[in-house]
Amino acid sequence: MKIAVLNGSPRPKGNTAALVAAFKEGAESAGHQVTVLQVGAMNIGGCKGCEYCHSKGGGACIQKDDMAQVYPVLAEAELLVLASPVYYFGLTGQLQSAVSRFYAPMAPAAKKWALLLTSGSPNVYGAIEAQYKGILDFIQAESLGVFEYDGKHSGTEEAANEVKAFGASL
Ligand SMILES: Cc1cc2nc3c(=O)[nH]c(=O)nc-3n(C[C@H](O)[C@H](O)[C@H](O)COP(=O)(O)O)c2cc1C
Repeated sequence: MKIAVLNGSPRPKGNTAALVAAFKEGAESAGHQVTVLQVGAMNIGGCKGCEYCHSKGGGACIQKDDMAQVYPVLAEAELLVLASPVYYFGLTGQLQSAVSRFYAPMAPAAKKWALLLTSGSPNVYGAIEAQYKGILDFIQAESLGVFEYDGKHSGTEEAANEVKAFGASL
């Protein structure tokens, strides 16, 4: 299946990227096609609320930025993985901006989702979990897995093996 991973971290060699790489390795070993987009390093503006997409735009956003790379991937992926460091109890601003822009086509095509979070402290995931659950309920998609690693665990072999095994199990 086609899998898209949106990594909200701006750090290409960060904790989230290492776990995304392990997940990709596992999923590819099972024959899946994985596209990783590091939205945290992209130029993606937040939704401007102009409603162009739902009037003249016919589902296309008026903003011309790096979402142009993301929309085609979202239109094809069967599984969407949101991967992010926790930034002040939320997704990174860059990933949150990309998520706000899901509004234009109304939803990514994927009916299967997963969540991969890294953080410094434990037990900081509640707000993101609530948003994730809200989105899935809204678009009637299912969660295949939620993976959360604090600073003591995100860099461990155990964590990498866990997400790799998840990818391989798909
Ligand atoms: C701006 C900023 C905000 C952060 N906010 C939190 C937070 O609210 N809770 C937490 O546990 N860790 C927080 N952290 C730590 C990161 O979530 C953690 O180091 C993460 O693993 C970094 O991922 P990356 O290496 O993929 O960028 C924050 C880090 C930064 C830079």
